Amino acid sequence: MPNWSPTPGAESGPRLIRLADPQAVAERVAALLLQEAQAIPHRPLGLATGRTMEPVYGALARRLDALPAREAEVVRRNWCSFNLDEYVGLGPADPRSFAAEMEVRLTAPLGLDPARVHLPDGLAADPQAAARRYGEAVAAAGGIGLQLLGLGLNGHVGFNEPPSGSDLPCRCLTLSAATRRQNAAAFGGDPAAVPELAITLGLREILAAERLLLVVTGAAKAEVLHRALQEPPSPSLPASWIQRHPAVTVIADQAALPQA
Ligand code: GLP
Repeated sequence: MPNWSPTPGAESGPRLIRLADPQAVAERVAALLLQEAQAIPHRPLGLATGRTMEPVYGALARRLDALPAREAEVVRRNWCSFNLDEYVGLGPADPRSFAAEMEVRLTAPLGLDPARVHLPDGLAADPQAAARRYGEAVAAAGGIGLQLLGLGLNGHVGFNEPPSGSDLPCRCLTLSAATRRQNAAAFGGDPAAVPELAITLGLREILAAERLLLVVTGAAKAEVLHRALQEPPSPSLPASWIQRHPAVTVIADQAALPQA
């Protein structure tokens, strides 16, 4: 058993699932996503981008393909998802945008209607107003059902950079130097080329989801994952707020969760 203690107030702590490697993690996460997408009715899916999620969408596409045609069609027809975040200044035509990433990894391979795959508008003239509208759109759709979360090396979820309070809503914010370094690979390795601003769902919308699914792979994230599960929730480690949520599952590989 892991040696963390549940936060007072949470009925039980996060459920930890430790699997052999990133591919096993991707398969399990894809199975849970598809199960949620097949449930009728279900609230919108909350989706994430990043390297951790790349194999997840591949596995999801294979699983959808393996369904009988009629069942796959029901999934497509009922699809509704909201991504966590987007860079300000990048639109779907830019391959480095999260919108482009979702088109390539999700919308096209699954054969989804692009109008059912929502992301914040990175090209909006007023990003703060666009963020507000995006948060309102999530609420108008009934809030998120299953929220997929990756974990930043600095403890961010979505782009909720430290410090982030648990009640902060969807907003436009300045990315930290650490995050711009972490995500530089997609920008020719140059942190300065990573946009300075991003729109992200806040902890407010994330914690309002029915269920949270935190997905973490690789030894580099082991320490921050351990802290997110162990330390008292605080703005300095935004992922730690998930301890306050009553229905959290953490799916990690052995490298990221060596002590479980
Ligand atoms: C990125 C994204 C997050 C993502 C996290 C982890 O910057 N904004 O939504 O989940 O950081 O990314 P990765 O999986 O590439 O390590």
